[in-house]
Amino acid sequence: MGAPCGCPSSSASQQQLNQLLEAVLAGSKYRHVDKDFILSIGASELRKRRSLKEAIKATRNKLHQVGGAYQQAVPQYARWLDELRQAAESRSDERDELVRTACRDIMRHHASTRERLPELDRFYNTILSDIAPVHSVIDVACGLHPLAIPWMPLAANARYYACDIYQDMMDFLNAGLPYLGVQGEAQVCDVIHACPTQRVEVAFLLKAIPCLEQLDPLAGRRLLETIHADHLVVSFPVASLGGRSKGMLMNYESHFVDMLGDKPWSFERFVFPTELVFLVRKQEHST
Ligand SMILES: C[S@@+](CC[C@H](N)C(=O)[O-])C[C@H]1O[C@@H](n2cnc3c(N)ncnc32)[C@H](O)[C@@H]1O
Repeated sequence: MGAPCGCPSSSASQQQLNQLLEAVLAGSKYRHVDKDFILSIGASELRKRRSLKEAIKATRNKLHQVGGAYQQAVPQYARWLDELRQAAESRSDERDELVRTACRDIMRHHASTRERLPELDRFYNTILSDIAPVHSVIDVACGLHPLAIPWMPLAANARYYACDIYQDMMDFLNAGLPYLGVQGEAQVCDVIHACPTQRVEVAFLLKAIPCLEQLDPLAGRRLLETIHADHLVVSFPVASLGGRSKGMLMNYESHFVDMLGDKPWSFERFVFPTELVFLVRKQEHST
């Protein structure tokens, strides 16, 4: 590779960027990731690395850190959708229980939702008790978290928006949301570069900030400011993917307070075995 280039403006660097995109998309793990997201990581890595090969490797590593690490096996979206549909179409006296069982089984396949499973029965009722029933939600960097809808104190026909970087995951969620009794939409979105614009009562930013800050240290602060929500539910992991880590709780708590800075927002704090959660009252007014 020649001299580092600030942006892929020359045809040589544009060509390298195209080659990088093609190489990353060729692997089964990142085939469904938003192309613009890969391009933005790839452009940054091409600037920093000595060769195209190194930039491709570094891009794959970043994608693993922020997304791939949470999915241990190839997602079985067609089968999961079928399970959800069968549960939702079952007899009314057993439907709720069967839908919950299907959702639990599916959430086991994403590390972030899996570690929350033991807490589902009290997680949302504890955090959202003062503001239930919730009429509109945006779930930012959602992973499989929308499958927790049956445990959330939502109003009938609540609107539920979700976004993440995986197109196949968003397709699955779009097909599955109607079985969970909400109206809504899941969209592919890189929230580092495009903050969701929907105006809602509650925005979930669950365990997303540490992940986004690996690519942009100001991403969390920016999202807290720009998301149009009356309430933000912001959480941080207090156990790493590899196991418990001492000090995470204190570090994330002070980082969160630092991010809020002098914003005139009040907040409550909740500690669960694997998650530190803040309910922030921004008090915008949703429509
Ligand atoms: C730690 S997981 C949290 C998932 C979910 N919020 C939860 O707590 O169950 C982080 C999620 O962020 C997504 N992600 C990473 N970078 C993103 C970006 N720039 N824009 C949108 N989503 C992103 C990943 O694909 C992954 O699903």
